[in-house]
Amino acid sequence: MTRIFSGVKPTGHLTLGNYLGAVRRWVEVDQHRADALFSIVDLHALTVEHDPARVRRLSRQAATLLLAAGLDPALCTVFVQSHVDEHTRLSYLLECTATDGELRRMIQYKEKSVRALASGESVRFSLLSYPVLMAADILAYRTDEVPVGEDQTQHVELTRDLAVRFNQRYGHTFSVPKAVRPPVAARVMDLQDPTSKMGKSHESAAGIVHLLDDADVVRKKIMRAVTDSGQEVEYDREGQPGVANLLEILAGCVAEDPAALAGAYTSYGALKRATAEAVIELLRPLRERHTVLASDPGHVDAVLKEGAERARGKARPVVDAAYRAAGLLPAG
Ligand code: AMP
Ligand code: TRP
Repeated sequence: MTRIFSGVKPTGHLTLGNYLGAVRRWVEVDQHRADALFSIVDLHALTVEHDPARVRRLSRQAATLLLAAGLDPALCTVFVQSHVDEHTRLSYLLECTATDGELRRMIQYKEKSVRALASGESVRFSLLSYPVLMAADILAYRTDEVPVGEDQTQHVELTRDLAVRFNQRYGHTFSVPKAVRPPVAARVMDLQDPTSKMGKSHESAAGIVHLLDDADVVRKKIMRAVTDSGQEVEYDREGQPGVANLLEILAGCVAEDPAALAGAYTSYGALKRATAEAVIELLRPLRERHTVLASDPGHVDAVLKEGAERARGKARPVVDAAYRAAGLLPAG
């Protein structure tokens, strides 16, 4: 059976980008057709300055949102990364497989380290090693497919390289995974700055739709989205990034083609109204289920506990095999 692994970092409130780029596919497709694991990858949230209480809160919130979005613990495994030691155990072996040069070439590392330095923060060493831990997340489960948004492509490529290199050196141990991207909205852009990704940890929330924003807030943010200087509604990512982003969001919500949708609108205002209503409808059931689930944290904790046990059982033999293959003496 195909094995799927993906994750989301508890670094901020989940966004429409997370949902359209990744989570919706996990819910609608992946959990039904494969042995799928979805993780709140909390260790990755410690690679930049963090507030412990906030990470804890956001981890539970992310888990609650994944369940509210429709991940079903009877169909897939939902768990918190730090509950399963195998991830960090394997990460070290992969640090001994990766090179300093290839990690320094990672686009996200370059961007985030520049940003941290510019705001007077130091760059944590874990920001550099982060893609190795991500590779461990994936390889520990002999994953075949990794459903992610476009920004993660380079990290999955690195994961493939590490798997191949390890297998060549020490004998076949890992499956070589591939990234799977959604057909539209693989990169939802910030509504106020449509040349940069809609990200959880952006300084200003005006361009970010959070999954828990209420209808009025969603409407306001989308109606105030930056559009382009032209008049026509055209799907042109380069020339009209603001309009193209709205078309992609709308297309993602209603499962249509953004270029085909462009012809249906004669003004930016009409496109914004339609997009706002489509997003509100898309998120409504999710918000309602979130309210119910959030009132019963014991249930969410129980799901996570069982998920971690299941995940551990799958990862342990793979990581043990990797330790033996690399020459480490078994504990007996
Ligand atoms: P992160 O929020 O970085 O932990 O990302 C979790 C998942 O959501 C990953 O698969 C990302 O590729 C995806 N994702 C995050 N932001 C966006 C975005 N703006 N557009 C599309 N996918 C996204
Ligand atoms: N790095 C991913 C992100 O920023 C999150 C992540 C961590 C992940 N480990 C993973 C995604 C393993 C897929 C598979 O979005």
